[in-house]
Amino acid sequence: IHNEIFLNSADASKLVAKEIAELIISKRQQGENCVLGLATGSSPINVYAELVRLHKEEGLDFDNVITFNLDEYWPMDRNNVHSYHYFMHEHLFKHINIRPENIHIPDGSIPQDKLMNYCLDYEENIKNAGGIDFQLLGIGRTGHIGFNEPGSHYNSGTRIITLDYLTRSDAASSFHGISNVPRKAITMGINTLKRAHRIVLLAWGQNKADIIKKSIEGEISSAIPATYLQNHQNTTFVLDKGAASELT
Ligand code: F6R
Repeated sequence: IHNEIFLNSADASKLVAKEIAELIISKRQQGENCVLGLATGSSPINVYAELVRLHKEEGLDFDNVITFNLDEYWPMDRNNVHSYHYFMHEHLFKHINIRPENIHIPDGSIPQDKLMNYCLDYEENIKNAGGIDFQLLGIGRTGHIGFNEPGSHYNSGTRIITLDYLTRSDAASSFHGISNVPRKAITMGINTLKRAHRIVLLAWGQNKADIIKKSIEGEISSAIPATYLQNHQNTTFVLDKGAASELT
């Protein structure tokens, strides 16, 4: 893992957006699509805001972009304001010229008996798109990436998982109480993520400092799934001062 530490998350986010924009442009020059793996949550919001600005003010063209989101709560209706589907449209998709058919977000309304095939298809769709060129990640305080909670296998694929209590309690305030937070989610697996050609993980603030230290300096273990990234050849942790404050 390579680390980059910034004074503030706003500057860091602009640089990450710039890297994504340059990739989109260079892929287009080669006549290729650019496949992005995307995250939700608070961490990537400023990256999306900068991509929207680049589209509106500098003409960044998303016509050759294909996206796959990491995860979605289950069960979850796509029109629910808490859905990651809603989040992505509000923060990014409705402001840019991406083709609707190029957007992939796990569908939280898939019935239980269809989930297994649905997840296999999601995995297959990523492969058919040519694999993920650039994967954006956040990190949960359990060490989850996507919703790969502690215990997730190194070779896991897209699947349904049970959210940890800490993850659900971190989401509780936006859901007006932990009892409203779904217990499960669909998530890309560790194996799905590790095949990405480039991974950038974002973490901001002191409350991520402990898990960032464990992820970067700790032993690789399923107890902290983010440690698996230590084996990935092209991963950068982009941190602000707070998130980096416990690194040695
Ligand atoms: C979201 C996701 C999660 C979040 C993580 C951090 O799609 O996959 O792993 O990235 O829970 O969330 P924030 O950024 O809200 O601290």
